[in-house]
Amino acid sequence: MTQVKNIGLFTSGGDAPGMNAAIRAVVRSSIYYGLSVTGIRRGFEGMINGDMFDMNIKSVSNIIQRGGTILKTARSEQFRTEKGRQAAWENLKKNNIDALVAIGGDGTFTGARIFGEEHDIPILGLPGTIDNDLCGTDFTIGYDTAINTVIDAVDKIRDTAESHNRLFIVEVMGRDSGLIALRTGIAAGAETIMIPESKTDINAVFDRLENGRKDKTSKIIMLAENGITGDAFEVGRLIKERFPNYDTRVSILGHIQRGGRPTCMDRVLASRVGVAAVEALMAGRRNEMVGLIHNQIAYTPFDQACKHTTEINQDFLKIVEILAI
Ligand code: F6P
Repeated sequence: MTQVKNIGLFTSGGDAPGMNAAIRAVVRSSIYYGLSVTGIRRGFEGMINGDMFDMNIKSVSNIIQRGGTILKTARSEQFRTEKGRQAAWENLKKNNIDALVAIGGDGTFTGARIFGEEHDIPILGLPGTIDNDLCGTDFTIGYDTAINTVIDAVDKIRDTAESHNRLFIVEVMGRDSGLIALRTGIAAGAETIMIPESKTDINAVFDRLENGRKDKTSKIIMLAENGITGDAFEVGRLIKERFPNYDTRVSILGHIQRGGRPTCMDRVLASRVGVAAVEALMAGRRNEMVGLIHNQIAYTPFDQACKHTTEINQDFLKIVEILAI
């Protein structure tokens, strides 16, 4: 086992609040342990283009509270090709980078896994995505901030819904995962939740509206993007068709869910896994994601971390049903 000396650090895929806290943790703990860090801009793209710079204690001052990522991010098509990955490898050698820390989600770890199989370099991943859709960690960096952003928005929507006696369909992010919709649906007192994991179709929503209390003055339906029925406008159209008396409106929260100051939970998670990743590289670990399971640091091989489970906590759905009476 060769001793790691210079860690290449990058963020990749969709940004998530708390990524800066993770960058800070990796840089500061590396320096604490006598290692160097090279920042790589725009993820795999920066590796391919050689967009790299030396980082020091001051490079990460005053960033723990900031959303986004100071290293910038991208989704790289070039890195999917062998030619792209070879160019990246040559740039890493040129910059004396002998280990990598990748902060990102599913796509990032797929790229890291392939790269780690092709080239002899230890790589560790930190889970950074608002979607919370990775195995090997109870929570991903950015999820807590995103769900708090969502409930803040939905509370505001509730005020106007209540004033006008309206039904709102609120669409949230999650790519192929309903975990943002599920938790925020409970927290915002939604009437029902439409998520891909439970394959909630429009008929289940109709039943809910048909059999629910008629004296409610406002209703919120929480919908995860990419649902089987279609987007929020389509769901709104179908509800209006079936229940012409409902005054319906649609609100798609979009990218506001990805920005903003990270919550305390996200900053602490990012700091813990960031330090753990550096210590793990020093201990000779490679090609794993560092997460938290039951509040303990846990290592999961990239191929297993990438597998998003479609199993969700059924209790959560039951809670929505019980509390929406
Ligand atoms: O993976 C994070 C995420 O915000 C998903 O929830 C969403 O589907 C996707 O990224 C949006 O990607 P983009 O910012 O490229 O439009």
